[in-house]
Amino acid sequence: MKNAPETTRFQIAVLPGDGIGPEVTAQAVRVLDSIAAQFGYTFGYTYADVGAVAIDRHGDPLPEATLQVCRDSDAILFGAIGHPKYDNDPGAKVRPEQGLLRLRKSLGLFANIRPVTLYPSLAHLSPLRSDKLAGVDMVIFRELTGGIYFGEKGRTEDGAYDHCVYSVAEIERIARLAFESARNRRGQVTLVDKANVLETSRLWRSTVQKTAAAYPDVALDWMYVDNAAMQLIQNPAHFDVLLTENMFGDILSDEASVLPGSMGLLPSASIGTGTALFEPIHGSYPQAAGQDIANPVAAILSAALLLDFLQLQEAGTAIREAVRRTLESGTGTPDLYAGNTCGCSEMGDVIRRNVMEISQKMQVSFGDNLPEPVS
Ligand code: IPM
Ligand code: MG
Repeated sequence: MKNAPETTRFQIAVLPGDGIGPEVTAQAVRVLDSIAAQFGYTFGYTYADVGAVAIDRHGDPLPEATLQVCRDSDAILFGAIGHPKYDNDPGAKVRPEQGLLRLRKSLGLFANIRPVTLYPSLAHLSPLRSDKLAGVDMVIFRELTGGIYFGEKGRTEDGAYDHCVYSVAEIERIARLAFESARNRRGQVTLVDKANVLETSRLWRSTVQKTAAAYPDVALDWMYVDNAAMQLIQNPAHFDVLLTENMFGDILSDEASVLPGSMGLLPSASIGTGTALFEPIHGSYPQAAGQDIANPVAAILSAALLLDFLQLQEAGTAIREAVRRTLESGTGTPDLYAGNTCGCSEMGDVIRRNVMEISQKMQVSFGDNLPEPVS
């Protein structure tokens, strides 16, 4: 096959997790299989338990065997994590979320990248008026292994504490990724912090300003997080690359995720020093589990990011194009209020058919670009 990189066999760890995780991940794997068939790649999958399901089966939300599978793979496709039986139990010693947090930390996945893409055909689903949505196309770079999530935490006699700690090196490494990304986009990084109050935020600001010196072609501006929360609604088109720390990024990326009209549409990539992980930004949506109504688009687009990461960008592009085409055709899961409502697996089928058609055309057009034989 043309344009295939030298190594075309990849081992993928599949961690379906909880709730709707297994259903949406199954559709993403089927799409990857179609890509493999079309482009001549080979994907091997190793399934492993994580989250509530891993607590039930192994007493641990991240069993050592799962971590090993991830370490031995080229990339991780992750479903969702969380179960209601733990949500209202603040005393629970073991929680499904610990599995994901430990996985991120153990693999050194310090950057969580969440692109927010709008689909014109779904503009009516957005909570914002369409004039506010014009030009919205941003990517959030959220620091993922530091800050208040991982600082010392504990109880005192009559209270509790969570320390927020950052080092210069932790800030620098994600800042560089954000600037690199901006270079290939609109050339704008917005740092979101709370430098008027927090010492860690002041460190973020001075470190990112220093990092910016190496990227004279990228413009840097900054915003306090409270203002950023407002600007995401009032003027979302301002943002190109939004760079922020762990906790602010958790909150703001959920806020930004509703702009396209459904949380079921957005993928994410978590990258760093170990095996990169790709997951939908939505949660485990336990009420819908097993009903074949969940939207598989975020999982399928996560598979597209995974392909980009493996340097198989044409395949990633084929998937994104297939998703766009499917959404434009008016077919969709219940969250999309589509004219033609379908289930999770049927949505996966339609996207897969579009992937095959689009990638076949891509192969043909690669052929068209070959030099004419000299007569
Ligand atoms: C996310 C999630 C996680 C987080 C939870 C499940 C621990 O909300 O990926 O954004 O807070 O990072
Ligand atoms: Mg979150």
